[in-house]
Amino acid sequence: MTEVDKKLFDKNNHYMGRPADFDTKFIQWRLEFLKADKDFLDKNLEMIDIGCGNGATMFGIASEMKSIVGVDINDDHQQVFENYKKENNIDNCSFEVFDIENETYPRKFDRLTSFEVIEHLEDDANVKKMSEMLTDDGIAVFSVPNKWWIFETHGANLPLLPWNRVPFFSWLPRPIHEKYANAGIYTQKRFRKLLENNGFEILEMRLMTAPMDVLKKDNGLKRFVTKYIFKSKETNTPFLAVSIYVKAKKK
Ligand SMILES: C[S@@+](CC[C@H](N)C(=O)[O-])C[C@H]1O[C@@H](n2cnc3c(N)ncnc32)[C@H](O)[C@@H]1O
Repeated sequence: MTEVDKKLFDKNNHYMGRPADFDTKFIQWRLEFLKADKDFLDKNLEMIDIGCGNGATMFGIASEMKSIVGVDINDDHQQVFENYKKENNIDNCSFEVFDIENETYPRKFDRLTSFEVIEHLEDDANVKKMSEMLTDDGIAVFSVPNKWWIFETHGANLPLLPWNRVPFFSWLPRPIHEKYANAGIYTQKRFRKLLENNGFEILEMRLMTAPMDVLKKDNGLKRFVTKYIFKSKETNTPFLAVSIYVKAKKK
């Protein structure tokens, strides 16, 4: 078990989360959902990725969009972003430091993504600000952690639970979970309500299967679980799903 990385807390002790690595199934499956969505991708449209981290997701669809601005509250991952951009000759993506909760972006976008970010906001009702960043017929895609996945993937602020994966912690009633967890967590119902109350109409909601990237070694256990249990990227079984993936349009 790895422990929660102390460097991922800001000066107010607020947990920012760790961007997923480029070569993980977590990113690849998300990209497969996006790439299959011809309605979302368009070479004439401009996109913003809120909480882009290292840019792993936006770079994966950059060739399908006119341009993508990646914004993040800090520049912790900007160097990785710039290196990847240079090494792969990507010229339509840029990185800016921007806090979605406390700043207003000076223009609107046709498409918006924000993956595994909303659960880190001080107030998740600030997704309203994301809807305000979209043009009138704009479309957004989000993902947030699923409450019914068997691990709390952001860890808990409790001395005896220093790990970033705590089994069944997210299943606790919401007031207890919110008191101790490092980030929020969502049922499909709660996430739907949040978006609908804050300027979005849901077009699609899916459960993304846990990709089991956490099992680093390609051993018998990993081969078994990925072949028989966590085999496809989408599931109907909430206990097997790590994230809720949503496509929504501006209301
Ligand atoms: C768990 S990481 C996800 C990064 C990336 N979207 C991914 O899926 O790998 C959450 C990111 O959200 C950023 N973030 C948190 N609060 C933010 C805010 N108020 N405005 C912009 N970015 C924010 C964090 O700095 C961090 O890079």
